[in-house]
Amino acid sequence: MAQRTKAVAQNLEVITIDGPAGAGKSTVAKELARRLGIFYLDTGAMYRALTLKAIRSGTGLEQEQALVDLARRTDIRMENGRDGVQVFLDGEDVSEPIRSPEVTNKTFYIARAPGVREIMVGWQRKIGSQKSVVIEGRDVGTVVFPKASHKFYLDADFEERARRRIDELKARGKKVDDENLKTELKERDHKDFTRTVGPLKVAEDAVVIDTTPLTVNGTVDEILKHIQK
Ligand code: DC
Repeated sequence: MAQRTKAVAQNLEVITIDGPAGAGKSTVAKELARRLGIFYLDTGAMYRALTLKAIRSGTGLEQEQALVDLARRTDIRMENGRDGVQVFLDGEDVSEPIRSPEVTNKTFYIARAPGVREIMVGWQRKIGSQKSVVIEGRDVGTVVFPKASHKFYLDADFEERARRRIDELKARGKKVDDENLKTELKERDHKDFTRTVGPLKVAEDAVVIDTTPLTVNGTVDEILKHIQK
């Protein structure tokens, strides 16, 4: 593995992972990046961070130009530390607040604005041009890095995705209404698939993996098999 890690770092590999919410992308991408010794980039966290800033600053979520101006005045950074992944919004650690239900449900406003996506994609490409990355999101294999060295699309049955989200929230000590969460997940799926810019779709050359019956390590093993082919 050490040899593999070195080769990856020298050639600046970009491994993209797309898929719907709850398909296991974050956990899998994080573990894959850890095993390969390369950077993990969570693009959803960037959209979430800007959403948080828009809410806090009272910026109209329907006003694209105001959102673009806000994005231009914003610095979003991500660190892969020993204590996990941290997201910084203008220097403030917002790793926890960007996961709130309000941010989760309002991020689509930011994600549907073409001007904002353009800025986000620029940031993401810059990071991927500086170091090897496992990058995770909705459009990372189709729009952000269409020429990525390896592309994956993770999917899972709806009930399984909902169960994972419920377990994840409960593990973080949050109260969850299961039916409400399922309704919200369905709505997010719909918005992700039907967005005019950067919609969620399978890149033609992506390897599709159904993670429904797989563990996190099982999924990472499967991905590594394809990468090492
Ligand atoms: O992966 P996530 O749930 O943290 O993403 C939050 C939202 O951001 C999601 O509803 C869709 C949006 N998103 C996007 O539009 N494009 C990406 N590359 C990543 C996320």
